[in-house]
Amino acid sequence: MSGLRRLFSDHVAQTSENPLGLEVSHASGVYIYGTDGRQYLDFDSGYSVSSLGHCHPEVVGAVKEQSAKYMHTSVYGEHIQAPQVEYASLLTSLLADSLDCVYFVNSGSEAVEAAIKLARKYTGRPGVISCTSAYHGSTTGAESLRSDHTFSMFFAPLLPGVTHIDFNEEAHLDRITHDTACVILEPVQAEAGVIPPQNDYLQKVRQRCDETGTLMVLDEIQTGFGRTGNLFAHQKYGVTPDVLLIAKAMGGGMPVGALVAGKNVLGAFVRNPALGHITTFGGHPVCIAAALAALQVLLRDPWITEVSKKEALVHSTLVHPLIREVRSSGLLMAIELIHPHYLVPVIQAIIRQGVLTDYFLFNETSFRIAPPLVISEKDLGEGLSRILRALDDVLNIMSSDLALAPNIKT
Ligand SMILES: Cc1ncc(COP(=O)(O)O)c(C=O)c1O
Repeated sequence: MSGLRRLFSDHVAQTSENPLGLEVSHASGVYIYGTDGRQYLDFDSGYSVSSLGHCHPEVVGAVKEQSAKYMHTSVYGEHIQAPQVEYASLLTSLLADSLDCVYFVNSGSEAVEAAIKLARKYTGRPGVISCTSAYHGSTTGAESLRSDHTFSMFFAPLLPGVTHIDFNEEAHLDRITHDTACVILEPVQAEAGVIPPQNDYLQKVRQRCDETGTLMVLDEIQTGFGRTGNLFAHQKYGVTPDVLLIAKAMGGGMPVGALVAGKNVLGAFVRNPALGHITTFGGHPVCIAAALAALQVLLRDPWITEVSKKEALVHSTLVHPLIREVRSSGLLMAIELIHPHYLVPVIQAIIRQGVLTDYFLFNETSFRIAPPLVISEKDLGEGLSRILRALDDVLNIMSSDLALAPNIKT
């Protein structure tokens, strides 16, 4: 065991018994390089963060330039910092007129926390509704939105007033009432295994929120910044939320998040009481300079327009006896296998082939493909060939198992 690996396991807190433990040397473009000299093709973008690949030169340049100028100067919202002002002006110019104001935070979870507070304060109502099989973060408020109580009971008592509806289930929409402060949902359910909206579901949520005066909060923390083939998924699916939550790819690899809403809505944090949500590091100038560079690259280069071509390539290439279905919204993709029994060996075999993929939190049959949007068709094709080889390996090894286990229906 290398010294670094031993110190990692002794002193860096872990969240599972078996972390992947890739010892990172450096990362560039769509590749992460191990200290053992191996190169890994990044097919999950660090959970939808590295949409511009690793160490995009313009993001790195912006970080260098801003960190030499100034870093932290004061808590959020007190000083006028050019990166924040420029970013907020550019971002809101790309959104519906009603989304004209940005509150910067540090992460996706903090955006979710702040949205719950904002909705309760703005509407004066207690109720919060989220969807089953949604993940909105790990802080206590965000965790309270999780529907799986066998997990969240370990952290009880959680936030009161939270109830759940099933995504795409129209019959549940009448649970949104005049007591509901907000409905928080993803436009495409990511951790459920990439479930896109069906039958104008998002429009129907929008309509019910309008009828009841409830805020519609869309969590685009995973779907934002081109991942689904539009700058934001709500634009692809033709609906405008009252509050938009962003993070992950926003910072081009730096930690940052935000709530975007109407200035009148975000005004709820300003008075009665003042300082309704505050954060020391939210909107850190270096992170926002990185975010600004990342957004400018996305707007200039063809990455978003190329998403659908790359999505089609994955669909046409990933045909295999172990694959039941490929679900996608742009380059947010779930590869569903014919049986959960195959999932662990398939993911392990893919990583052995030098391609990074991972599980979903709430889908035991699918693995994820969400490569950097900047991936070339050649690299994408190479990664897909390696996935097919991994699937062949597992099929060969496990077909004998299958003969011994006739209860496994394929
Ligand atoms: C849809 C969604 N919302 C919120 C979060 C929480 O974001 P963070 O990990 O930055 O707190 C995540 C993280 O995976 C997410 O996928």
